[in-house]
Parts: sequence; structure tokens; C-alpha cells
Amino acid sequence: MSQDIKTKIEQLTAELNEYNYQYYVLASSVISDYDFDQKLKELESLENQHPEYRDPNSPTLKVGGDITSKFTTVKHRWPMLSLSNTYNEEDLRDFDERVQKGIGHPVEYVCELKFDGLSIAITYENGMLKQAITRGDGMQGDDVTNNVKTIRSIPHQLKQQNFPDLFEIRGEIFMHKSAFVRLNQEREENDEQTYANPRNFASGTIKLQDSREVAKRPLDCFLYFLYMENRNKTFQTHWESLAAVKQWGFHVSEHSKLCSSIDQVIDFIHYWDTERHNLSFDIDGIVIKVNEYAYQEELGFTAKSPRWATSFKFKAERVETILEQVTYQVGRTGAVTPVANLRPVLLAGTTVKRASLHNANEIERLNLHEGDTVYVEKGGEIIPKIIAVNLDKRKENSSAIVYPTQCPECGFDLVRQEGEVVHYCPNEIGCKPQIVGKLQHFIGRKMMDIQGLGDETIETFYKLGLIQKITDIYTLKDRKEQLVNIERFGQKSIQNMLAGIELSKEKPFEKVLFALGIRHVGETVAKKLALHFKNIDAIRAATIEEIATVQDIGIRIAESIHNFLKIEENNYELRLLKDLGLQFEIEEKEVILAGENLSGKTFLISGVFAEYSREDLAALIESHGGKMISSISAKLNYLVAGDKMGPSKLAKAEKLGVPIISDQELLEMIN
Ligand code: IVH
Repeated sequence: MSQDIKTKIEQLTAELNEYNYQYYVLASSVISDYDFDQKLKELESLENQHPEYRDPNSPTLKVGGDITSKFTTVKHRWPMLSLSNTYNEEDLRDFDERVQKGIGHPVEYVCELKFDGLSIAITYENGMLKQAITRGDGMQGDDVTNNVKTIRSIPHQLKQQNFPDLFEIRGEIFMHKSAFVRLNQEREENDEQTYANPRNFASGTIKLQDSREVAKRPLDCFLYFLYMENRNKTFQTHWESLAAVKQWGFHVSEHSKLCSSIDQVIDFIHYWDTERHNLSFDIDGIVIKVNEYAYQEELGFTAKSPRWATSFKFKAERVETILEQVTYQVGRTGAVTPVANLRPVLLAGTTVKRASLHNANEIERLNLHEGDTVYVEKGGEIIPKIIAVNLDKRKENSSAIVYPTQCPECGFDLVRQEGEVVHYCPNEIGCKPQIVGKLQHFIGRKMMDIQGLGDETIETFYKLGLIQKITDIYTLKDRKEQLVNIERFGQKSIQNMLAGIELSKEKPFEKVLFALGIRHVGETVAKKLALHFKNIDAIRAATIEEIATVQDIGIRIAESIHNFLKIEENNYELRLLKDLGLQFEIEEKEVILAGENLSGKTFLISGVFAEYSREDLAALIESHGGKMISSISAKLNYLVAGDKMGPSKLAKAEKLGVPIISDQELLEMIN
């Protein structure tokens, strides 16, 4: 058996290496991306089971072919701080005054473009690129070395000799506007999610786990800051260091300027405020840095940012365009969202075609008419916003946009509950986007977490008439002959999916309740309902008022649950799901857990909690008779787990079958 695996690993390794060679060296694609990925995944999984058989040159490790299942978090040698912002001349003069006060006289500034991408810290050792780390939270970031190595303008090996043995260089990874437009167009044609702007595209790309995919997306990088031990012995100023790193082979922007007064800085800013539109990439401001390293050190840092630098943010750009049409999107819950379709216009480097109008009130607020000329603005936000209508350009006799009274998808009368701004289509069981959306919600990671079944597959199955209702997911196993005929759906994928579906039957009642997609029933509400009522029959039997007695559940939520369970079709489906083996009551241990006092029970608390300190929780447990213990063993009754808990602890508790509960569940046990 293990000999077979060894042979399979060797065979896949040789095959994939050949594909890589064809792709990168000969620039020819002899296998589809999909098939390549499937093979790579298969190899990775075999290697994970048998690391001893992994070839040192395995394609799973290679740049441009490396699949990273999770990036390693690395602490920054020098924290990556952010910059303070200025928005007008006055702020800038204040900054200059503070600097002059600190130093005692006027100083030189280096003005640079503020590239709108994602920052990166790259370490070089003896001229070789060693490691590239994202900003992360400023103290630690993700190791994305393999992905960064695919960026053509970042050297792997420095050619010049006069660089220090060890240094860190910082810069901004970005995508040129033309590449962004081209790639987004391709994505749209392939029915893939498009990115809102080049920055999102660049940061989405650098976080991809398949560096082969990264390599296909042209990214660029400007370097703008050097860190090394005893830097002041080699360079006296930032300006000098920029010239040097350029010599070493790095891509340094040519649009920086050394200024001897704040007036010159302001001129630079004015120039780029208009000239920025002619750049091939997006900038969102100007960075101003004190030039002398000695002065930088003297000025130091606040907790968040250096006192020796600041940024000037350009104002959000505003353009005028024509409103061509308002269309309406129906979501999973039946919420109907109006979308403004605009005559395409270039705004802050992106072509804007659509803007969200949120709800009927927004249409009214703007007093939108057909064919109106509208002002569209984009700040740092992803989705552009219609700010107002240019009334001078309103066409005579144009009619006002009226929010529909019927669902654009199924024709049902829309409803808006009192006090709510959103209109809903009430046809939960017959309106297509609601059906597909609900099925996609059901399989989601935080709900039933069905492995091997994704949103796109749901869409395909729905189109093919294979699934309509949740129960259809659980009867897919009886339709294997139809499944095998679906393109790109191999025997293995079918097996994985069916196994995932079967496994989901183990999901606890609270997850099932959340997965059903009842309006207003989110993760927490589902948990509270499950704990309080213990099973679906009890919830069904309860009146709206009784449901509303549960802590944090108001009348609106209670009504929604009650109404859902009043519909006979829903109940019929729930009965079928129960017969199929899904959980509709909480397990015995949870029943005890909800009611009993803590005496005689042992607890361990780990991780970080949003509302309580670990000490607070421990005190609470002890005051209710529980006992704290310090390690995970078979003696432990409950592990109270918060965020950022170590994976090994979690794994150990899971292995020993120790119930893992949240702080909220702990409180439920006490109350
Ligand atoms: S210097 C402590 N220079 O802006 C010095 N940053 O808001 C920190 N940025 O996180 C950075 N262009 O991602 C610097 N020419 C430039 C920059 C630049 C863009 C980004 C960078 C930083 C953010 C701060």
C-alpha cells in the first residue's frame, strides 16, 4: 500500500514538473489550469500523508507551483507602522511646525507618491531574496515569499556587490490600471467575481495560495524604505538610500522630490493632484518624510506612526455620469436591493458601471429620475456611491424612478414591514435567487460546512434540475448516474461531496437551525434558540411571545421564526430532513450543560474573548462551584475557547472528546 503511494507521488511529481517546465520555460500550456490544480492538490494531500516521500524539488514547493495551505505568521523585525494623515495645507503646515519645533530649525523633506497597493517587507541576505512578509497587524504578517518571487520587478539575486549582508526593504505591491482592466474583463467573461479596484486585485492576488496563479497576474512593486543595522553609518539621508537601492537593482519611483521647505512640498502636492490621473497606476496621496536619518531618530514615533513622516490624502474623486437604468437584485432572504447601472465612467482609476442604491429610501432621498446625470464619488470605499443628482441637466418630462411593488424575479407582491427599510419578496419557496441563495447558505462554512460542495456546484445542480430543496442535497447519493455525466465532475469529486454530505448529518442542532436560513436567525440567535427550546418541536409549539422571552430575541426575530414554522411546506421539509438523519434536538450533554450548576465540573479557559478577561471568566466559574484546571486531559469537562487559541490545544481537546464551549455558552450554563 505505502509502496503504491510512493510510486504515485513519484509519478505525479515527474508529471507536474514537466508541466511546470512547459509552462514557465517554454511558455506553453499543455494542461488546463483545472487539471493541473487537481493533480497538484492530489500530490499535496499524498505528501501530507507521507511527508517522507516528498521530493526535495516537489512542484508543491516550487515557486510558481507552490500551493500554500496556510501562510506562516512571522514577526516583523521592525514594526510596520502606518502614517498619520493630513488633508489640507493647514494640517501640513502644522506637521512642519511640529517637526521644526522638535529639531530646532527647518529641515529637508523627501516627497514621494503614495502608492495605492499593499505594503511588503522583503529581507535580503547576501544579495538573495530570503523572505517577504505582508504588513499584517503591523507587528506580524504573513510569509508570502513564494508569491512575491513571481513579481518580475523584484530581484531574486542582486547583481551589484555593494549592498549590505543583511537588510530589509519596504515597498508597495500594486497592479497597473491597464492590467487591472484587462484581467477584470477576462474574469467577467468567465463569470468570475471581479475586483473593485487595482488595490483589491493586487492584495487578493498576493494572498492566493497557488503561486502559479499569482505568476499569471502581473504585479509590480515600488520600493521606498530601507532598514538595516547601523544604517546611519552607511547613509545619512533617506534620499541617499533611495539612490543606493536603485543601484542595487530595485524599482524605485522616479517621481520623488527632495524639498527644502514646506512650500515646495505643497507645490509638489498640487502638481500631483491633477497629474496623478496620467499615471499608469493609482496613488491616493503623497508621503512626506524627513530626509536626515539623524532627525528621524530625534523625532521618533508615537504609538501608531512616525513623527518624522506624514501622508497627504487626495480628496475622493467625483465624476458625473448618466444613470442608464435601475435594476433590482433579489438576495437569499428575499431582500430586494436596487442597483444603479451607470454609463461607464473612469473614476479613481476604475471604470464604474454600477453603484448600490441600498433601498427604496435612498432612491427617494436622491429623488432619482430616469436618465438623470448623477455625481458619483469613491473615497477609500470599494463600492462607488451616488452623491447627488445634477438637477441642471435633468431632462424635461423625465419620470421619477419608482421602486417596484412586485418581485423582479418571480412577480410576487413585495412587502416591507413597519419600521424596516428593506423590501422583501415573500415567495421563499418559489423565487429562484432565494432558492439558490438558501441552498448556498445551507452548505456554508459556518453552517453545515459541507466539504466538496461549493456555491458554483449548487448553481449547476440547480440549473440541471438536480436540486431544488435542501432535502435534495441529501438524496444526491441516489442520483450518481446523473452526477457522473456532469462535465468536470470526476468520480473522486463525487465521492468527496457525498462523504461531505453524509458527515454534515452530525452537525449539531444549532448549526442546522442557522443553516435553514430563517430570516433574522443568525449564528447567535440559533444557538440561543437551541439551548432554550432544546428541539424543533418545542420551538414550533411556542407562541411569538414565548419565543421572545429568550434572552436577546426580540419580537421581530420571534415573528420571523414563528412564521417560518407556520408554513406547512417548511415543516414537511424539516420532517424529511429529520428522517434523513439531521439533528433537530440538542445532544444530551448539552441539555445537562444548560441546566446544571457547575459544581464538580472542571474547566480550562483559553484564547481571547471580546467582552471578558480570562480572569473574569475563571472567577465566574469558581463562584458557581466549578473548578479550574491548568491542562487539557481526560479529566477536563469543558474547554472554554475564545479567539486566537492555539491549534494544538484545540486539536488535543477534540481528540479527547472534551466539549469546547464559548463564553456565551458558559454564561448560559450559569443563567
Ligand atoms: S513609508 C514608517 N512611502 O502607505 C514609514 N509608505 O499609510 C511607512 N505607502 O503602510 C511607510 N506609498 O503601505 C511609505 N512612498 C511611500 C508609500 C507608502 C504608499 C503606504 C504604505 C504604508 C501606508 C501608510
